[in-house]
Amino acid sequence: MTMNRLLCAIALAMLALPALAQGPIVIKFSHVVAPDTPKGKAALKFKALAEARTKGAVKVEVYPNSQLAKDQEEMGALQLNAVQMLAPSVSKFGPIGVREFEVFDLPYIIPDRATLYRVTEGEVGRKLFAKLEAKGIKGLAYWDNGFKHMSANRPLRRLSDLRGLKVRIQSSKVLEAQMKAMGAIPRAMAFSEAYTALQQGVVDGTENTLSNMYTQKMHEVQKHLTLSEHGYILYAVIVNKKFWDGLPPHIRSELEAALEEATKYEHDIARQENEAALAAIKAAKTTEVYVLPQDERSRWREALLPVHRKFEGTVGKDTIAAFYAAANQK
Ligand code: LMR
Repeated sequence: MTMNRLLCAIALAMLALPALAQGPIVIKFSHVVAPDTPKGKAALKFKALAEARTKGAVKVEVYPNSQLAKDQEEMGALQLNAVQMLAPSVSKFGPIGVREFEVFDLPYIIPDRATLYRVTEGEVGRKLFAKLEAKGIKGLAYWDNGFKHMSANRPLRRLSDLRGLKVRIQSSKVLEAQMKAMGAIPRAMAFSEAYTALQQGVVDGTENTLSNMYTQKMHEVQKHLTLSEHGYILYAVIVNKKFWDGLPPHIRSELEAALEEATKYEHDIARQENEAALAAIKAAKTTEVYVLPQDERSRWREALLPVHRKFEGTVGKDTIAAFYAAANQK
């Protein structure tokens, strides 16, 4: 090789270096639940689809079970771009000052999945996502888990059975008010702390979905489970806005397509994951499962409806009205 050609080859190699050193775009996707849940499975589905569609230009690292960060820590980490993607329950936006999402925590406001999807896919869903932008967060999709139920170490048949019970909740003012309306004492804590708090008697009971209860082994430290369907867990798939907007457009559109597919998958599996969790809880025989009868359920609902009115100012009267309208739109 002549000296010129050698110099040329070195210059070319140096030009190529930054590209090589950069490697793939890494998306750290943190969440707090087990891999074997609707959210955990959908996060892995997104990873597989995103990496295949971008032919390895994007690497998605999924960190389940609060491995990387607990609830509020992960929200801070997203805003600092230390992680790029999360799928928190929307109840967790209150502490960062976006309380309007707590509308989804209102007891009995979601009668069924179809109503929920009408709301999330409509104007309310879009407006709520827009509120995140000022926090440096972009909302991309809504995922959901399912109905919440109540558990404790004593039977919960009537609302009076909840009186004086210390109950773990997510950090939401609406959930706090709901528990007080039930006669219970709310204790907000991170999801990762719930099992130990139940095991050590720091709290007496909890509300959650069946898949969350089963995968966290809560049924092993709770003797009674009442299928009450009094509330719902909805997730928002969110990203650091600056990171997302800074992606090359062709990469972003592949990721959007991957997320659309992962969202369909998540919606498809959520119900069956919760049904399987119920069967597994029953089979474990450590918890007695009680189905709240319809008449008692109506009494719970009636006692909890004043919570809707109490929060009209915070979550918006119109937003609550949009839920009622969606429920009637069969
Ligand atoms: C909880 O804290 O109970 C849930 O938000 C956990 C989850 O992400 O489903």
